[in-house]
Amino acid sequence: MNRYHEGVSETAAAPIPLLDLRAQYASIRSEVEDAVRRVLESQQCILGPDVAALEEEIAAYCGVKHAIGCGSGTDALLLALRALDIGPGDEVLTTPFTFFATAGAIANVGATPVFADIDPLTFNLDPGSALAALKRRPRIRAILPVHLYGLCADMDPFLAMAAERGIPVIEDAAQAIGAEYRGRRAGSIGTIGCFSFFPTKNLGGAGEGGILTTNDGRLADRLRALRVHGSRVRYYHDEVGTNSRLDTLQAAILRVKLRRLEQWTALRIAHAQLYTATLVRLGAPVAPPAAPPYPARHVYHQYVIRAPRRDALRAWLAGQGIASEIYYPLPLHRQNCFLRLGYPEGSLPASEQASREVLALPIYPELEPAQIERVCHAIGAFYQSGA
Ligand SMILES: Cc1ncc(COP(=O)(O)O)c(C=O)c1O
Repeated sequence: MNRYHEGVSETAAAPIPLLDLRAQYASIRSEVEDAVRRVLESQQCILGPDVAALEEEIAAYCGVKHAIGCGSGTDALLLALRALDIGPGDEVLTTPFTFFATAGAIANVGATPVFADIDPLTFNLDPGSALAALKRRPRIRAILPVHLYGLCADMDPFLAMAAERGIPVIEDAAQAIGAEYRGRRAGSIGTIGCFSFFPTKNLGGAGEGGILTTNDGRLADRLRALRVHGSRVRYYHDEVGTNSRLDTLQAAILRVKLRRLEQWTALRIAHAQLYTATLVRLGAPVAPPAAPPYPARHVYHQYVIRAPRRDALRAWLAGQGIASEIYYPLPLHRQNCFLRLGYPEGSLPASEQASREVLALPIYPELEPAQIERVCHAIGAFYQSGA
């Protein structure tokens, strides 16, 4: 009997966090400590062999020729836009239903985000809405889809639209390391892929970190220069860049974790399947993540349901020690800082509706099947109680 068929365990009454990074650390403590000690003993704390090795390993994992470490996922987006010469006067097409950094990076290079609505099934940028926006806005210089929650956006239509206009596609793959779209890994599909190693990500460091992926050698060279003040030869600067290197200690820790990533991803997928099967079996009136209308490997950075009376459900779960989260309660076109862009309430209805309905349930590799059963039963009980 594997642990998917065991009954409710003694963990049943303990609080269930959204994510338990201490459980993960406990399983890799000695390897992480050895890796950190190795860097400290070498005192090669900036770039150095661990960053170069991680870059090679991530490039191989994502199926690209080049990977370039940087300071965070936000910096990855900023560097990608800079390397593609996107700046003031340019517009970048993206989704409003994402973490703020996606559009924040566009604004921070002086460009303007153009928001198109999402596909309600996948929560990702909708190709039809994107095409309509492209037709209206001739100054769009790049398309920036996000692989939200660990599911790749429907990339082929975006690649076709971009090719027709001769503009690049930047993948915001911050939540999607290891995700696949029609057999292609996230980060290998567009012109540049941007990843975050924020600690809560499927592959997370012990602090900030990020990486860029590309098959374009010229862009890789420019990104490597941009992360060290535009310098290729020390103290000689070809252009104005910034300081955004991946910390060597982070790289050493991430290399330990990368070796476990496939195993952890398989557990996330199994947990998601158990959630969906249990919610369906219990007849809970919530919508589990839908299968996308294209072949994909969802890596379940988040397991997100649509729930009627979402906020009351969330409070009910909290009352039983079950954590949940809303990603994201306000779409970016309705954020104070972007009201000036002129998207009124109701202008991107699928994104706005998602913001009212989504609820992320606990998911992480070390989660126990009995805990998943408990979350699902608590959801079922909420709707039966009429609370
Ligand atoms: C979709 C998305 N884009 C960008 C980022 C930014 O990454 P970071 O927090 O590493 O700057 C994140 C995560 O935080 C994210 O979820």
